[in-house]
Amino acid sequence: MPTRASSSGILSEEKASEREELVELLKKAYWMEIETVMSYIANSINPDGVRAQEIIESLQEDIEEELGHAKQFAARIKELYGVVPGSLEFAAVQSYLQPPEHQTDIVHVIKGVIEAETGAIEHYNRIIEFTDGRDFVTQDMVIAILHDEEGHRRLFEGYLREYEVEGLA
Ligand SMILES: [Fe+2]
Ligand SMILES: [Fe+2]
Repeated sequence: MPTRASSSGILSEEKASEREELVELLKKAYWMEIETVMSYIANSINPDGVRAQEIIESLQEDIEEELGHAKQFAARIKELYGVVPGSLEFAAVQSYLQPPEHQTDIVHVIKGVIEAETGAIEHYNRIIEFTDGRDFVTQDMVIAILHDEEGHRRLFEGYLREYEVEGLA
């Protein structure tokens, strides 16, 4: 027989420390999304050249999706009795998505996007594992977000393949 506490799951008093741990994982995810929005805005505007157009349009679409992810993570932090952090807590890590030396260097952008998406995929898999059997609502949300990131990465892997075939990457 499940106790009353276990039946109320991750929101119960007994689960406070697990919940705090989860909120920290979600805060990291939130910052990853916010930084990705910043990086994708810059990299959807900076590139020059005919071949940049596909990348630009792709990133413009992704910006909206990543912003949506950030909002979902923020909302879940609150639902778990956490507080969405203020901007002073932000620390940038995406060294690989800084503007390239030459704005026609599309391969640099493509590789940077793949690295960002890979980082998200790794972190979200970790959250999915942490929430397994503990918090199915967060797990369900993060599985859907993970699906988006896998799609983003696959798309950019395809772009990279084109440059690799031509010996440009
Ligand atoms: Fe995202
Ligand atoms: Fe993404």
